[in-house]
Amino acid sequence: MSGFPEVRPRRLRRTPALRRMVAETALRPSQLVLPMFVGEGLTEPREIASMPGVVQHTRDSLKRAAAEAVGAGLGGVMLFGLPETKDAEGSGALDPAGILNVAITDVVAEVGDGLTVMSDLCLDEFTDHGHCGVLDPDGWVDNDRTLEIYGQMALAHAAAGVDLVAPSGMMDGQVGVIRRALDAEEHAGVGILAYSAKYASAFFGPFREAVNSSLVGDRRTYQQDTPNRLEGVRETRLDIEEGADIVMVKPALAYLDVLHAVRQAVEVPVAAYNVSGEYAMVEAAAQRGWIDRETALMETLMSIRRAGADIILTYWAMDAVRLLDA
Ligand code: PBG
Repeated sequence: MSGFPEVRPRRLRRTPALRRMVAETALRPSQLVLPMFVGEGLTEPREIASMPGVVQHTRDSLKRAAAEAVGAGLGGVMLFGLPETKDAEGSGALDPAGILNVAITDVVAEVGDGLTVMSDLCLDEFTDHGHCGVLDPDGWVDNDRTLEIYGQMALAHAAAGVDLVAPSGMMDGQVGVIRRALDAEEHAGVGILAYSAKYASAFFGPFREAVNSSLVGDRRTYQQDTPNRLEGVRETRLDIEEGADIVMVKPALAYLDVLHAVRQAVEVPVAAYNVSGEYAMVEAAAQRGWIDRETALMETLMSIRRAGADIILTYWAMDAVRLLDA
């Protein structure tokens, strides 16, 4: 029967060239940020079993990886420091000779203006109890005492030369305190990428191994609850009012609706964190031959872009650039 169906969307899918031409969403290397871990006192990079292909860097291997990130045209790197010793107050975070602070200086010296250098601003890597802040005598994470430390931590990162600090502890008021601390010490040029809508998630599992976390229990009294979308938008608005330059939704895949709602609601750039567990699931299934790794990782990143992310933090950043070039 001629003339039916009248509408044939398949015409635009017939050839690779047609599909490329009508693609609604694009992914560029400059939209990708590579999270990297650096271990104090490490003499060789150490593999992270639950994140195949990701390592805890030495100071030297971190610099080399940062240089490769410049070569790949990535947008930036997000640095996590792993101290040799931890204490209840996370004091390694404030020490100018502490691992994260020296790593920031190392990477900034290595990459110059080649990419944006960002630092995860949180206490969980530095505290012996593994929480994102200091505890009061009842074991409750003490919001306001933690804020004071975050302000000082921001100054340490700024002194080390960071471009953007990224507070990830979900303390109330953290963005405002950090903004004021930076401005008071003539670091008005240092920006804030806020982990704004951050959910208590099982998908952070492999990250615990990546940062040698000693956390007992969970983060449910400060990270958000899975059922809440509007609350994610509200947290994001609050962060912007407090001075966030870029906001972030985390994790990405189980929260694409939150990402979309945030993108609709605000005018600042929106980032999403394709987290450790999202990485590990694909890598593990691919190792078993159950999923096509490259197709799955590109599909993942494209879906996060399509949902509204302008910037994606992903352990696949270097792989993605290779695949985009191919
Ligand atoms: C906190 C922080 C975490 C991640 C990034 N920053 C852990 C947490 O909040 O529990 C997780 C990243 C990932 O899983 O890839 N410093």
